[in-house]
Amino acid sequence: MKTFYIETFGCQMNAHDSEKVIGTLVSEGYTQVPTPDAAELVFYNTCSIRDKAEQKVFHRLDQFKRDGKGKTFAVLGCVAQQEGAKIFEKAPHVSMVCGSASYNQLPQMLVQLEAGNRRVTGLNLDTEDTFETPLTRRNNPHRAYITIIEGCDKACAYCVVPFTRGPERSRTSESVLSEARQLADMGYSEIQLLGQNVNSYRDPSPAGWDFAQILDAVGRVAGIRRVRFTTSHPRDFVKPIVDAIDSNPALCNHVHLPVQSGSTRVLEAMQRLYTREQYLERIAWMKAARRPIAITSDIIVGFPGETEADFEATLGLLDEVEYDAIFGFKYSRRPNTPALALGDQIPEEEKSRRLAIAQERQRQIQIRRNAGYVGAVEECLVEGFNKATGQWIGRTTQHKTLNFLHAAAGGDDLTGKYVAVRVTRAGPNSLVGEWVG
Ligand code: 5AD
Ligand code: SF4
Repeated sequence: MKTFYIETFGCQMNAHDSEKVIGTLVSEGYTQVPTPDAAELVFYNTCSIRDKAEQKVFHRLDQFKRDGKGKTFAVLGCVAQQEGAKIFEKAPHVSMVCGSASYNQLPQMLVQLEAGNRRVTGLNLDTEDTFETPLTRRNNPHRAYITIIEGCDKACAYCVVPFTRGPERSRTSESVLSEARQLADMGYSEIQLLGQNVNSYRDPSPAGWDFAQILDAVGRVAGIRRVRFTTSHPRDFVKPIVDAIDSNPALCNHVHLPVQSGSTRVLEAMQRLYTREQYLERIAWMKAARRPIAITSDIIVGFPGETEADFEATLGLLDEVEYDAIFGFKYSRRPNTPALALGDQIPEEEKSRRLAIAQERQRQIQIRRNAGYVGAVEECLVEGFNKATGQWIGRTTQHKTLNFLHAAAGGDDLTGKYVAVRVTRAGPNSLVGEWVG
């Protein structure tokens, strides 16, 4: 049993966990293959943020229900932690169930699998462990993720994450910085700091750094040109973070600050720990910055008890903030969460209606905002080439996609390079431009 396949669902934390899991498996003598058919061991690294995400893994497993072709199946990540050993009943061909807080034990668990144990579990959440490994197999040669804090200590009423990823555990600043320096030496130029709530980072070593300090320090590592971070919780988003962005050119002009709702009443029911006004105060800090900071957000429509007036308050907030982008979601009931008891009061069609209205409102805002970039010259990190359109795909510091033509490049591969591009056209979701050398 020496070949494995892994498919990853969910957020960047999961994507990065998979990079670490892959590194661990390879160091244990396993070889990654590109399809489940070619693999002896099949891993699904799962997400349970909404019901739809959770169902995906069961669809995948169903495909092998009757004929597993002698393969061994392992479920990792948030669904594994949430459902635990129940997965063995739902999908008897699964042999291993392991949550993210137990990845340190993967080598021992693999030994148990090899020994023929068909019910291997790693489900302890009560842990101080962080998954730090020198073995990470990074997917992208230019942009690297670094986890700085795992878990979440908040109790948002809709959210499953505290139950799937456990309590907050921060890495030491020295460990984070040495990883950043090593990545810079390897040629990475962009670093993305990850955590369910990066703002509550607290260095456990005597230095005792907060998030703004580690952010600034990573931005000062020689060779690192861009630093991003996600996700921020408004309650812990403090002014020194904006000051750090203003004073450190390597920190990108972008903050993702999920608001969830524009109604203080709903925010309270969601147990978000801030009011609409307090959220807008944080937006005001960013708008007052010297740097043009792009702001993006997540919203949930149809939380139990959300009235038409509450929903209007969210629309009004979109107009007021003028986000660069939002991710909108229909409320989905999740196991274990405090909001479960409230039922699912808003009918599905009504949720869809609200979501469509919010997304259309935001689309108009993005058309307006993006039009303002026409004529500007933006620095882009080139992510690749789109053969269908003949355009290079660039990413601006504000995290906008800027597709551009570059006739002079000839056969040269620009991927991973930083180039200057003049914006010539703008759409709601991306910009188009020309290389200006
Ligand atoms: N239902 C719908 N959306 C949710 N999110 C988190 N939990 C739920 C849920 N139960 C959304 C939030 C969060 C994003 C990652 O997913 O907007 O910021
Ligand atoms: Fe999904 Fe949340 Fe788990 Fe990420 S942390 S994989 S978004 S449930």
